[in-house]
Amino acid sequence: MRDKPRIGRLLAVVCLLAGMIAAAVPASADVRIVGGTKASTDDYPFVVYLASTDGFQFCGGTLASSIKVVTAAHCVKGQTAGEISVVAGRDDKKSKTEGVEVPVKGVWTHPKYTDALAGHDVAVLTLAKPITRYSPLPIATSNDHSAYEQDTMATILGWGRTASGGQTSQYLLKADVPIVSDSSCSDSFTKYNSNWMVCAGYPQGGIDGCQGDSGGPMVAHGRLLGISSWGEGCGLPNKPGVYTRVMAYYTELMQQIKTPLP
Ligand code: ARG
Repeated sequence: MRDKPRIGRLLAVVCLLAGMIAAAVPASADVRIVGGTKASTDDYPFVVYLASTDGFQFCGGTLASSIKVVTAAHCVKGQTAGEISVVAGRDDKKSKTEGVEVPVKGVWTHPKYTDALAGHDVAVLTLAKPITRYSPLPIATSNDHSAYEQDTMATILGWGRTASGGQTSQYLLKADVPIVSDSSCSDSFTKYNSNWMVCAGYPQGGIDGCQGDSGGPMVAHGRLLGISSWGEGCGLPNKPGVYTRVMAYYTELMQQIKTPLP
């Protein structure tokens, strides 16, 4: 891989469990996100990817304003702003012309974040110049409890792996997954904490986020409900994807997003 040692280390640490299981479980041929279909930033203008200075896509993100991108803390922890750029409006990672690539000038990670399994996996990037051609997505507010109800259909988006242990996608993919109840997700994962995480996926598996989708959006009712955070393998039965519960961070996120231009 062309990815930088630091990113490799981050993914290695954060996705250790997922990676080990991904390696142990043979990926079936039709799993593609995993189980996704091609999508366009024309329809999802808020979805962005994070790239290292050599152009390597390592995570996803969501435009929350013209200069703020919400992503996962595990995607950017330990990196400086200068090592990250944000790419908007580019469905095809290999395109040199589609969309815009903007340097990052500030990185905020949640002060309580240590690792994804412990929660608080949320970060906000400040862009060096505004992105105005692609519209942002409102984040879930503290009144959005009902949006997190079991079986609410949510859309996940990303350029991550299309199979456990496989390669990341050249194109933006999307999938629709139902939100899983807290009790069911606690049965799946001992580390699940319903205060700041939310799960989505099918009991039978097959459709899920995967490595490289981290930081990217889970959307329903026109709001950012979740941030791709962790899982165990990808698309395994009774192992839904785990997302940062955006609603739980509304106040802190708004403080970051609303930070006025200097
Ligand atoms: N930690 C992974 C990453 O860094 C995201 C894993 C999401 N996994 C899942 N099964 N939904 O990209």
